[in-house]
Amino acid sequence: MAILVLGGAGYIGSHTVYELIDYGEQVVIVDNLETGHIEAVHPKAKFYQGDIRNRAFMDRVFEENKIDAVIHFAANSLVGESMTNPLKYYDNNLCGTKVLLESMVAHRIDKIVFSSTAATYGEPENIPILETDKTNPTNCYGETKLSMEKMFKWTGKAHGLRYVSLRYFNACGAHESGQIGEAHAPETHLIPLILQVPNGIRESITIFGDDYPTPDGTCIRDYIHVTDLAMAHIQAVQYLRAGNTSNIFNLGNGVGFSVKEVIETARAVTGHPIPAVIEGRRAGDPARLIASSEKARQVLGWNPQHDDLSKIIASAWKWHKGHPDGFAK
Ligand code: UFG
Repeated sequence: MAILVLGGAGYIGSHTVYELIDYGEQVVIVDNLETGHIEAVHPKAKFYQGDIRNRAFMDRVFEENKIDAVIHFAANSLVGESMTNPLKYYDNNLCGTKVLLESMVAHRIDKIVFSSTAATYGEPENIPILETDKTNPTNCYGETKLSMEKMFKWTGKAHGLRYVSLRYFNACGAHESGQIGEAHAPETHLIPLILQVPNGIRESITIFGDDYPTPDGTCIRDYIHVTDLAMAHIQAVQYLRAGNTSNIFNLGNGVGFSVKEVIETARAVTGHPIPAVIEGRRAGDPARLIASSEKARQVLGWNPQHDDLSKIIASAWKWHKGHPDGFAK
């Protein structure tokens, strides 16, 4: 029996495939390569290029392979783009998941692990954020992810499918081999943008707002290493295989770092001065997002290994230094 990884050529998907294969799992990948990279596909995985919105294609994948469980990363994930082009997000994230679920139900595949986000909470009411806290997304990306969670819930009730939804905080870092890492075009995330400065791609990093109600005025986030995220997916599959009920888990380190602290750490790691320029706030950024991941630790046995920001940034730097243009040759 194989695990089907949708979006397995993307950033978090490819890292999860590497861990699954290290764990001796058989892996089938589906990716439309719209934002994923063929170079990120693990050589031991069976790869299909195709789109989850295509029912005939998804049926063929389920018919040609013995699939035990699905891990679903195939979605658009840019907050800014989701605000200017919401229907793209409804089409890919929601309509794609609807077609996927129809095909899964038809082929009696009853386990799915799903990549959700801290953006489902919106502006938090409590820090650290618990899974039971109110969900009130402030952007269309988070709204589609929350709707996908609800689609799993109701489909599960009707058809006996069980799901685990993993709400990631700020994914970062790269595989220890330095062979795969973060490569988005355009890049919008803080750590890869910072590392473009020592890589000679940009002259400075822009800080979006230094007037937030935080100790140094810049936004605080919970940075979690991509390999730790990958491990949680394996544990979530094991949780479902053991017959447990559907569940939702936050994934973060439970420690917050400000934008200024991240830049300062990157200066120390790279030995580059990394000039920073203060600009106005970016629309929709909450001041502080920090996870409580106690539930994932207790129920899944998740134990993130990378809690040192210097080491996390060093792993990202190893990748970006060796691949300044991402996967481009
Ligand atoms: N930032 C800067 N300058 C930059 C880029 C980012 O100051 O050039 C700041 C942002 O304003 C934010 C922090 O750095 O305060 C982190 O920004 P990222 O874009 O790296 O990450 P976000 O916290 O915005 O996004 C993450 C996930 C999303 C998820 C969101 C939930 O990447 O998928 O958290 O709020 F939706």
